[in-house]
Amino acid sequence: MIRLLPAVFLSLTMHAVAAPKPAPATPAPEPTPAVASAPAAQPATALPADAAAPPPAGQPRSTYSQCHVDGPYVAMTFDDGPHGANTPRLLEMLRQRNIHATFFLVGQCVAEFPDIVKKIVADGHEIANHSWSHPQLSAMSESAVRDQLQRTHDAIIAACGVTPKIMRPPYGAFTARQRAWALGEWGYKCILWDVDPLDWKVRNAEHVKTEILKQAVPGSIILSHDIHKTTVDAMPETLDALLAKGFKFVTVSELVAMDKPVAPKPKATPAPKADAPASAKAEPAAPPAPKDKVKP
Ligand code: NI
Repeated sequence: MIRLLPAVFLSLTMHAVAAPKPAPATPAPEPTPAVASAPAAQPATALPADAAAPPPAGQPRSTYSQCHVDGPYVAMTFDDGPHGANTPRLLEMLRQRNIHATFFLVGQCVAEFPDIVKKIVADGHEIANHSWSHPQLSAMSESAVRDQLQRTHDAIIAACGVTPKIMRPPYGAFTARQRAWALGEWGYKCILWDVDPLDWKVRNAEHVKTEILKQAVPGSIILSHDIHKTTVDAMPETLDALLAKGFKFVTVSELVAMDKPVAPKPKATPAPKADAPASAKAEPAAPPAPKDKVKP
């Protein structure tokens, strides 16, 4: 449906031109490979360089692409819905396994399928804001971004009575200033991801499963899209395999609540003394910087 509408193709050229393109009236398509005139081998969009940079001292963290947790916890996330057929099918799969996931909802779809939003909440999942029409927010004015987020915020509350606490910008594109502002305005934490099966691009259930199993680690935030039949087709085996590996599923807000700060790596490590106590281990490595991944 919405993915078939005329395209406003997002490409790196959007970052290069001075004037941002106007917000499309309809959702933008999923990321599209760079057009022929664009430099080769670049994704349609790239994560902001500071996407998950630590906040200034004393300020709350606004952005998460993964969490640092003590147990084998992961958060499954499903974007761009709800979808009239695929989301209810997914909900049944999750219910059968007693798994709680997080749904990043597009406001237009919330307005179209309020009963599915109610069902998502009734089943114990978390709901979150993924904008009204899926534009690239980082290229838009503050008032246009406010409209995108506020309309969706209001539509979610109207549909199910629950106030979303987190958001995910389409394509992961959200400036540092916008993240600070969304945190202040709605209390929204900005949720990115560290596991990306590229399920919007490779519409193959086996590929989706293989990539998720390959990439998932404790603390992972797993990106996928319940609007795609192939993604939902992949879920029974994917979820069962993750359970078999010992992973436990929580919502994003539950994962964030478990997050433990990671001390920065010391610049130079002095040679340990022979009588150093056993507890004087090196700090765990800092999280990897977000890769230049293509956006959800
Ligand atoms: Ni999306």
